[in-house]
Amino acid sequence: MSILITGGAGYIGSHMVLQLLNEQEKVVVLDNLSTGFHWSVPPCAIFVKGDVGDQELVTNIIQDHQVTAIVHFAASSVVPESLRDPMGYYYNNTAKSCALIRTALKQGIKHFVFSSTAAVYGVTDTFVVTEDTPKKPISPYGSSKLMIEKMLSDAAASHNFNYVALRYFNVAGADPEGRIGQSTPNATHLIKVACQASLGLRPYLEIFGSDYDTTDGTGIRDYIHVSDLVAAHSATLCYLRNGGRSEVLNCGYGRGSSVLEIVNSVKQAANRDFRLKYSPRRAGDPAALIANTEKIRKTLDWRPQYNDLDLITRHALHWEEHLSREACAKDNRLTARVI
Ligand code: UFG
Repeated sequence: MSILITGGAGYIGSHMVLQLLNEQEKVVVLDNLSTGFHWSVPPCAIFVKGDVGDQELVTNIIQDHQVTAIVHFAASSVVPESLRDPMGYYYNNTAKSCALIRTALKQGIKHFVFSSTAAVYGVTDTFVVTEDTPKKPISPYGSSKLMIEKMLSDAAASHNFNYVALRYFNVAGADPEGRIGQSTPNATHLIKVACQASLGLRPYLEIFGSDYDTTDGTGIRDYIHVSDLVAAHSATLCYLRNGGRSEVLNCGYGRGSSVLEIVNSVKQAANRDFRLKYSPRRAGDPAALIANTEKIRKTLDWRPQYNDLDLITRHALHWEEHLSREACAKDNRLTARVI
């Protein structure tokens, strides 16, 4: 019996693979390596390069490895990119997930964990959102994920199939043991960008908006450590295996941090100052978005271990330092070859 992890070579998926291997589960990773890295998947996990929309391939994987549950991470997840290429997002996220869910149902898969996002809420009237807060996504990315939630709900209503959709808030940090982390080039996420600025890899950190109606005028988000996020997935698998019913759960800590609080935390972790550039608000950014976490805490046996902003930024910074050292070593090897 194995668990199929789609997108298991990506940032969050690769942390999930480590978590499940640590729990002695058998893991099969399916990833097309469009944004993930083969090196981030440990050799003891089975790796298949391919696409979640390939029904024949997924059928073979499920049968060959006796897959009983699917954790579905594979997706395009850059909000501004989704505004430039909406059809690409509906195709890659919604259409391919439809194919994956159809295959799962045909093969009798009963447990499905889905990576949803707080982007399904869009701009809200309140800073803290519950799962019932109206969903008004303002990006094709958010809409593409909300459609998948709907498909899962319809699938569960008509089949012996249970799912949990976890709506992620702002995922950050890296493996506490330093094995993996967020490695996507040109990432736009605040904590990663701030770490890069602290290492001198960027001339400054741009702050998008300082006139919000928040404590210090900058945007507030609920940052969750990637290791706690994947632990929530493990708890979800356990919940579904024990007969838990289908649910949609906010996945955050229920605590907001402003952009300036992040900046200060990164400066402290790096023990270095870096330049800030104040810019106008970024289109589509809400002032604040914080998870109401009552439902996830009641539903799952989940005890977050890294609910500490300074720990999150420290782990993110360690990973960024690692990437930077690797890049230097690669440059040196290339230079040596040229000489
Ligand atoms: N920010 C800056 N400067 C930067 C980057 C970000 O000031 O260089 C600010 C943003 O304006 C925002 C906060 O930092 O106030 C967080 O921005 P991120 O880009 O790190 O994250 P978002 O909140 O925009 O997006 C995150 C996930 C998305 C998800 C969304 C749900 O990255 O995948 O939350 O709301 F869809």
